[in-house]
Parts: sequence; C-alpha cells; structure tokens
Amino acid sequence: MKPYISVITALLLFTPVVNAEPSSAVAFDLATIKLLKSADPQAGKALAEESKCAKCHGDAGVSDDPDDINIAGMSASYLFKQLRDYKDKKRDDRDMYKNVRELEDEQMADLAAWFASLSPAPANPDRVLTDAVRKLVFYGDPERLLKACASCHGRRGQGGQFDHPALAGQNRTYLVDSLVAFQEEDRENDIYGRMRDISKSLTEDEIEALADYYATYLPDEDEDEEEEE
Ligand code: HEC
Ligand code: HEC
Repeated sequence: MKPYISVITALLLFTPVVNAEPSSAVAFDLATIKLLKSADPQAGKALAEESKCAKCHGDAGVSDDPDDINIAGMSASYLFKQLRDYKDKKRDDRDMYKNVRELEDEQMADLAAWFASLSPAPANPDRVLTDAVRKLVFYGDPERLLKACASCHGRRGQGGQFDHPALAGQNRTYLVDSLVAFQEEDRENDIYGRMRDISKSLTEDEIEALADYYATYLPDEDEDEEEEE
C-alpha cells in the first residue's frame, strides 16, 4: 500500500473514534460493583431529605404529577449511573446537574441504594396490550433489526442488569420524552448508543403506544408465562 493511502485510511478509520466522546464514564467494573454493594441506604435517605429530591420525584420516589419522573424501585446500578452521568454532563439536565455536582461517588451510591429500596409505582389495571405493541415488546422486529424491549428491560418491564432501567410504572410523559430525546440525540448517555439506535427505528405512533403500555401495564405472572416462546 502506498504510504499516503495508508495515511488516508488511518484517518478514515480513526477520526470518528477520536472525536466520539464516550457516552458514560461509568463502567460496571469490580470497583463500581463494590461501591454499590457497600452503599448505605439510610445515609442515602438522609441525603435525599437534605437535597429535597422529593420536590421533583415525590415523597417516596413516586410522584402523581404526570410531569415528574418516578425513580423508586429502579436498580441501584441504573440510578447510580444516571447520577454520575448528570454530574459528568454525559446526560444533560440543569436541575439534575445542580443536585449532584458536589456529590462524591459514595453519596450517589447511597442515594441510589435508598431509592432502589423503595416500592415502584403501582401498575394501572386498565392496561391494553395491542398486537403491535406485543410484537415490539416481546419479539422485536428483525426486519428493522429491533430487539425485543423485554430482552433488556425485563419481561414485566421491571428492568434488567446494570444499566437496563425498569420502565413499568414510569410516568407516561417521561417515557415519551426520553424516547424522543434518544431519537433526536438530546440524550446520549446510553452506552453503545443502544437506545439511540432503537428509538430511531420507532415511529411516533409506536412510541406513544409503547409509553401507554409501560406506563399503565404490568402483566401478572400467568400472562407472563403465556408470553414465553
Ligand atoms: C428541581 C427538580 C429536581 C430535583 C430537586 C431533583 N431532580 Fe432528579 N430529575 C429531575 C428532572 C427534570 C429529571 C429528568 C431530566 C432529564 O430529562 O434528563 C430528573 C431525573 C433524575 C434521574 C434519572 C431518572 C431516569 O429514569 O433516568 C434520577 C436517578 C434522579 N433524577 C434522581 C434525583 C435525586 C436522587 C435527587 C435528589 C438528590 C433529585 N433527582 C432531585 C428533576 C429534579
Ligand atoms: C439492547 C438493549 C435494549 C433494548 C432492546 C431496549 N432498550 Fe431501552 N434502554 C436500554 C438501556 C441500556 C437504557 C439506559 C441507557 C442509559 O441511560 O444508560 C435504556 C433506556 C430506555 C428508556 C429511558 C428510561 C429512563 O428511565 O430514563 C426508555 C423509555 C426505553 N429504554 C424504552 C425502550 C423500549 C420501548 C424498547 C423497545 C422498543 C427498548 N427500550 C429496547 C437498553 C435497551
């Protein structure tokens, strides 16, 4: 290969990598897992009261204001990652940045442990599961390379390991807003761009329908069994 060609090739290969900022500084390595394990929920409770998290997230991490965001019962690992991402400005929000900018990792882990220990918002019993939503949630759409939401967010929307958040019981407005934020790359803290890719394959109607489903629906165990392939 001629030298100048290999220079051009090298530029083409490496430019995007050099420019791309990592989407999060959080890795679920041994140090982070130890930090989360040694977190103190009672210290998190005291800090939450001091920081007035309840003002925007409800008294027990659940708010009946449709514009608020429920954080109770999500995994400590997901909650911790979000708090660090706000602090690192990997996830951009002025209110949340102000809340966490002076916190140490231990304090964010304590907060995460506290909110993880609380009960998530109850499901709405009047939920509807259309065929189109069922397909997206449980089977995905191979033609669009869409994986089933349940494969990462759990079969009951209860969340998965590490950075896979619970969706069930979340306020509807926030579910729509966050999918649109990923779609428009206003939110970029998802490692490997997983949610940015997925949300870009979804139509507006699908986003609305998925938000209806998760905000209002939590299948009982029997129905869940029937969904098994
Ligand atoms: C002034 C209002 C306000 C206060 C006070 C506040 N938050 Fe938030 N919080 C928000 C908003 C708004 C968002 C969503 C921002 C966005 O779209 O990224 C959010 C998002 C979050 C998220 C991400 C939720 C998710 O599902 O990804 C977590 C976790 C969180 N807040 C925890 C806390 C904790 C812990 C405290 C107290 C230390 C706190 N917040 C205080 C307004 C607030
Ligand atoms: C390959 C795994 C994967 C699949 C499949 C997936 N998600 Fe996600 N999703 C994630 C991850 C990881 C995050 C959290 C990113 C972060 O902030 O670190 C997330 C975040 C979200 C959020 C924001 C939650 C919050 O509290 O902020 C919504 C809403 C969401 N996903 C909806 C969906 C829907 C609907 C589907 C199916 C169409 C889906 N996801 C499929 C991995 C996945």
